[in-house]
Amino acid sequence: MERLPTRTCHSRITGMGSAVPEQVLTNHDLELLVDTSDEWITGRTGIKERRMCKKGERLSDYCVKACRRALEDAQVEAGEIDAILIGTISGDYRFPATSIFVQSELRAMNAFALDISATCSGWLYALFHADALIAAGRVRKALVVGAEMLTSITDWSDRSTCVLFGDAAAAAVVEASDGHEGVLSVHIGSNGDLAHLLYCKGGGNGKYLTEESIRKGEHYLRMSGNDVFKHAVRTMYRASVKAIELAHMEIDEIDWLIPHQANIRIMEATAERLRIPRERVFINIDKYGNTSAASVPLAIDEARRTGKLKPGQTVLTVVFGGGFTWGSAVIRF
Ligand code: UT7
Repeated sequence: MERLPTRTCHSRITGMGSAVPEQVLTNHDLELLVDTSDEWITGRTGIKERRMCKKGERLSDYCVKACRRALEDAQVEAGEIDAILIGTISGDYRFPATSIFVQSELRAMNAFALDISATCSGWLYALFHADALIAAGRVRKALVVGAEMLTSITDWSDRSTCVLFGDAAAAAVVEASDGHEGVLSVHIGSNGDLAHLLYCKGGGNGKYLTEESIRKGEHYLRMSGNDVFKHAVRTMYRASVKAIELAHMEIDEIDWLIPHQANIRIMEATAERLRIPRERVFINIDKYGNTSAASVPLAIDEARRTGKLKPGQTVLTVVFGGGFTWGSAVIRF
């Protein structure tokens, strides 16, 4: 079993908050756009509706709302924050980073601001780095955000992807803690050999935006759903086992599995392989769809706010996404 190096300090989540657009897009709305049905979408994915930003809204606006709620929950002032880490692949501009605008709006002027590009795994990648910076004594308080506006890179004529994604932002205040509580383990990984299964090429310098590239829809997200599905189940299981090992725990010490909300069948298959009963799996994909980097913190925040996740309980969370990337963590609240 891998041993973590000696750390001077641990990290814990002291507050959370989230923000979703008001506009709701139901499966019945999508029936009017593409050849699909509520029955197919519900049966194959578990999604009933998702939230969608209006034209002109920016991701940073949602990040700011989520961060304000998290700061209030933690009773921390913006000026106390040392780092703002945002996992996203759908930020306001190509540069500067979306976290820069969030810093300015929050007046968190003692922080550095950084975006992390790790697709759906963005929040756990951000948590990994916040935890490591806290362990190294370089940061005391961080805002760790997962946020996505994937509807802005969705091809609304592609029924295999347009039914899946929704927009959201969710944030956690992560603070240094002297006791060994809070983040008990956090693990991330990637496999670049699988990049061709889920990507958005257009707009990068590997694929400049031209009239032709736009006509071909190369600025949209593309996915081989079935292949992603198979890798996802295997990866989610392995990453979960790794996080539990690193926390020196057993699976039956876990109170809640809060997995990436990509597909209910992937979540159920992962829970089954881990032998975690369905009543200990938190699911909100029906309301929000797959919100990519926001999915895990959005679900954890809802579990806390609804009182399902109680203080002192332990969560196993796990995610996978394009790249491939993955991440997992065991967190005591
Ligand atoms: O968050 C990061 C990563 N993303 C994911 O986790 C997604 C992983 N993949 C999935 O969740 C599933 O693969 C999907 C939900 C995307 C698709 O479900 P599936 O059971 O793998 O379906 P499929 O791609 O094998 O397609 C089965 C059939 C096809 O028709 P034929 O060829 O059997 O006639 C598709 O054309 O379903 C058809 N289909 C649809 N039918 C109605 C595909 N999308 C739709 C749709 N409505 N929206």
